[in-house]
Amino acid sequence: MNPGMENLKKECLLCRRCALGGTRTNVVFGVGKEDAEVMFVGEGPGEQEDLRGEPFVGRAGQLLDKLLACVDLERNTNIYIANIVKCRPPQNRDPLPAEQETCIAWLMEQIRLIDPKIIVCLGRIAAQRFIGADYKISARHGEFIETDGRIVTATFHPAAVLRNPLIKPDTFEDFIALREKIRQVCTRTYP
Ligand code: URA
Repeated sequence: MNPGMENLKKECLLCRRCALGGTRTNVVFGVGKEDAEVMFVGEGPGEQEDLRGEPFVGRAGQLLDKLLACVDLERNTNIYIANIVKCRPPQNRDPLPAEQETCIAWLMEQIRLIDPKIIVCLGRIAAQRFIGADYKISARHGEFIETDGRIVTATFHPAAVLRNPLIKPDTFEDFIALREKIRQVCTRTYP
């Protein structure tokens, strides 16, 4: 791990900036390639992630890994995955705005260190943070938007796809469009 990221992780694992620090089992810092050109951002850890300390390792994570594999992406090879909040909200509720506000500094520092060209928001919570508070994922998923020198896009959260398989084709199309965008703007993601 590069020293900047290692120090950040060390500090983050001790974080008690909000109440979620009191109920977590593990801080879920993030996983992947530290100089990835493509970064995926979810909302917050669920039960399995809290137990294992790694993002997207439950059922939704297994679906995410399959979608990634369809477009030749893999969590330890060519992308980085993190969440808006690093600790599990009780009963998997949405992270509160105040919790997001407190926690997002960790993610912003990860983004600064990784310096990805493309950020892919998984679900509404991440998309509303990165794109705009009134962002409607069902209307705008798959759009590519340039902000602060990076390309930001959003697709459905894999947990939403598990709940509603009818959105699977649209989600798959978003991943195919992502592969095309990566080919256009990234130089190291695909060999
Ligand atoms: N859902 C998320 O948003 N993030 C995870 O890490 C797991 C499930």
